[in-house]
Amino acid sequence: MRVVDAFRAAFGADPRTVWHAPGRVNLIGEHTDYNDGFVLPFAVPWGVTAAVSPRDDATIRLLSLQSTGDPLVITDHEESQGWSRYVVGVLAMLGDRVRGADIAIDGDVPQGAGLSSSAALEVAVASALNDLYDLGMTPMELALLSQRAENDFVGMPCGIMDQAASALSAEGHALFLDCRSLGSRNIPLDLAAHGLTILIIDTQVHHEHAGGEYAKRRAECESAARKLGVAALRDVTDLAGALDRLQGAERKRTMHIVTENHRVEALIGLLRAGAITEIGALLNASHLSLRDQYEVSSPELDLAVEASLRGGARGARMTGGGFGGSAIALVPDERLEDVKESVSAAYAERAWQAPRFLPATPSPGARRLS
Ligand code: GLA
Repeated sequence: MRVVDAFRAAFGADPRTVWHAPGRVNLIGEHTDYNDGFVLPFAVPWGVTAAVSPRDDATIRLLSLQSTGDPLVITDHEESQGWSRYVVGVLAMLGDRVRGADIAIDGDVPQGAGLSSSAALEVAVASALNDLYDLGMTPMELALLSQRAENDFVGMPCGIMDQAASALSAEGHALFLDCRSLGSRNIPLDLAAHGLTILIIDTQVHHEHAGGEYAKRRAECESAARKLGVAALRDVTDLAGALDRLQGAERKRTMHIVTENHRVEALIGLLRAGAITEIGALLNASHLSLRDQYEVSSPELDLAVEASLRGGARGARMTGGGFGGSAIALVPDERLEDVKESVSAAYAERAWQAPRFLPATPSPGARRLS
């Protein structure tokens, strides 16, 4: 493994453990996680591999195969910068349960595609340290710790979906997660048996204001829940009554969250019934709701969705936080080339940067490699 070779070259010994954690796409259930709702992501074939050894002192030495130069040497958590904060944040959250560490990182999650490379990094490092220090943490506890690192150390107010998907996914399955109880179930997602592919369409566009808009959506949802007298929008049972009591952005956000939770449940019902070919309409409805009610799509995502449907996809939607990143399309295998051509041609017509296409195979969650 090249990450082991790099570790040995940099630190002069073999790593004590090597863990891999994947990125994710979300099949459905968008922006519902921080509303205590339902999500249905699955792990992608790309992720982060972390080779780790413990140290006797509090120093962190950190090497990434995706960066040039010598390993970073971090003696003060607060001085860490950039991508290293995801790693240092995990160590900071573990506190005096761990000391320092030598860490080499190798990642292949396509950057900027909204496939949760940061969650993969956090979960890979957290899993390795859990193993090395015999902490006995469950995959969900590791996901929660990783989320705390991102919320409290990196400063991104994300929900639990990405880290849970990375820690708990199973090959050939999507992960159904109730973000309030944290109960989860792996739901079979047998695409190949139905001649289907979930195609990721990476717009290669990432809008700068995404972080600020995310925090704004969260605040709007919390404010709407307060006005409705519920703990979270998940608890709205009378949607019409709730909408009567809200206005403007809060009304629209509530409409999205409540209907999106219904769509997750409906989609699971279809999967259970073996009707995977019928889920397309729910994907389309999710996209329209994210575009019109939640207002987190972008022209590039909308075009990817429209053009893939014209090319023969059974359904399509933006996936992840929005404002760029990727869309997913559910495509019969015999229409894959038509869909790619349709999307590429639509982008070319507008002289936009060509999108990238990646097949998303439901892959295993975090695991030890050696
Ligand atoms: C980002 C966040 C997740 C989730 C999605 C939207 O990926 O990290 O917690 O809120 O956006 O569904």
